[in-house]
Order: sequence, then C-alpha cells, then structure tokens
Amino acid sequence: METRPLIFDCDPGQDDAISLMMALAPSDTPLDIRAITVTAGNTVLDKCQRNARMIVELCKRTDIPVYAGCDAPLELPLATAEEVHGSEGLDGVEIFEPALPLQAEHAVDAIIRICRTVDNVLIVPTGPLTNIATAFRRAPDIISRVREIVIMGGARSEAGNITPSAEFNAYVDPHAAAEVFATSVPKTVFGLDVTHKTLIRPDHVKKLGDLNNYMTDILVPMLSGGYAEFDAQKFGTNGTPIHDACTTAYLLRPDLFTFRQVGIRVEAESELTRGCTSVDYWHGTDWDRDCQWAVGADADGFFDLMVERLALYAKL
Ligand code: BDR
Ligand code: CA
Repeated sequence: METRPLIFDCDPGQDDAISLMMALAPSDTPLDIRAITVTAGNTVLDKCQRNARMIVELCKRTDIPVYAGCDAPLELPLATAEEVHGSEGLDGVEIFEPALPLQAEHAVDAIIRICRTVDNVLIVPTGPLTNIATAFRRAPDIISRVREIVIMGGARSEAGNITPSAEFNAYVDPHAAAEVFATSVPKTVFGLDVTHKTLIRPDHVKKLGDLNNYMTDILVPMLSGGYAEFDAQKFGTNGTPIHDACTTAYLLRPDLFTFRQVGIRVEAESELTRGCTSVDYWHGTDWDRDCQWAVGADADGFFDLMVERLALYAKL
C-alpha cells in the first residue's frame, strides 16, 4: 500500500466519487491524503467542487481540505460530460450543500505549496490535467519534487470514448495533457485499455448492496442508473467501467495491475485527433520511457478490493 503523501486532483463525477470513497474509507492505515484539488471536467467547476465536498463529508473525512482550481482548460472552451454523469455530475446521489467549507486558497496554489514543502508527493489526477499543468507552468521548480503522477486518462488499443481518437480527460484539455506527459516525472497511467477490463456488473452492484452500510446505500443508486447504463450500452458490455477507481486500487494494491514501460505524447493541435494519446508501445521512438502504461488487471481482485474498502464503512 502507498504510504507517501498524496494529492487527489479530480472532477467528480461518479467514478471520481467511487475512487474517493475507496481511498477515504475508515482504516487503521489510512492513505496520507494532503489535499483534494478540483478541476472543471465532467461538469462545471462549481458543481465538481461541491460534489467533492459532498463526498468527503459523506466519507466523514472533513479533515481533508478541498480546493477549487481551474474552471476551464488551458486554451479551449470547457467540454463536459453531463450525458454520462447527470446534470449535477453525480446522478443517483441526493445533492446537498455540504457544511465542509471550500478552502479559500486556489487549487493550483495549494498544489505548488504542498509540492514545495512536502517531499515525495504523489499527484493522482482523475480529471483533465489543467490544474497540474498550470501548477507546473507557474512553478517549474516543483516538477522535480513530484515523486510520481498516477493518472486516469488516455487510450491506445481501446481507441477513444469521447471521439474515435481520444479518451475524455485527454480530450478536454489536450494542451495540459501534452505538457504533463512531456515532463520527466515518473507516471503511472490507467487508460481505457485497462479501465475497460475492470467492469462492474449488475451482480457486483448487488453484492455491494448486500454490505448494507451507509456508503453502499449512497453508492448503489449511483451504479444503478444512467451512469451504469451509458457505457454498457455504448460498448455493448455487461457492466460499466469505474475508470478513476483504478488509481485508488493501484495505490492500495499495485499488484492488481500489469504494466508496460513506455513514452507517451498527446496530440493538442489536430481537430480530428485532439487528445489522442500516442503510446509508444513497441518502442519505436527515442522518447523517454517514463510512463508505466497499465495493460492488464485482475478484475476479480479489483472488485474484491472495492468490497473490502466499502465494507469498512459503518452498517446502517
Ligand atoms: C474519464 O472521463 C470522465 O468522464 C471520468 O470521470 C473519467 O475520469 C473516463 O474517460
Ligand atoms: Ca474523472
């Protein structure tokens, strides 16, 4: 299990929320989460940051500060995914205004401050990479201080989910993705090639419901409505990917995944292939192989871990 300090950068989003529910579960050996920073992505920033605060409050981890960051990609207008996540970004969850306040500090400032003052930070982005790229632009000195970036984003053999060429997070801010992937920080990357191998099926959702605790009471409706149906229908699968939860699963149980060491570049200029992640799988370039590209997953182990983490929440 990862013991180094973490920053989660997200755009909740059902799968971001489930990733956080797994990461924040009450445990004798909690992950060392220093901040949750939020970017616009699945929906507008205001809703994403409220959703992040809701999830943190529901997880009863109000000791973790939540910061709002960039409300639009570096150079392009924001593209959102309400058709997948619902008009509030968290379809299936009763929306409320959390008591947990939003931090006054901007997420980018918080990322810079934490990276400058804490050694060996891991950044875990599960949305567009706008906050991370902005922090690296403004404070290049932090780049060499970041130990690893654990990213959900990109696609190779699975092709895109928002366009034929691109996965959603890379598509929304391809300039930010291009800049972050061009840095030499070690990166572990969960693209669609692997997130489409860890599907949550209706029988899994039933098993989660059988845990019958206050968190699964919130989570099961999230996995029983439009979010679960959208990808299952689109890809013709019996089950839905919980993309972002692969990052938390990796932090807790890296042995669940297999990787190939590659270089990755991101297309930012072409209209046709905007956000396409060019993964040098066959090592045909001289790009630094600074990315662990996830290629395989123990799908049963992934689900068992999800059950194990969610079982830590109190019974109803
Ligand atoms: C990614 O896009 C978003 O809709 C999800 O939250 C996930 O981060 C999957 O392509
Ligand atoms: Ca996300």
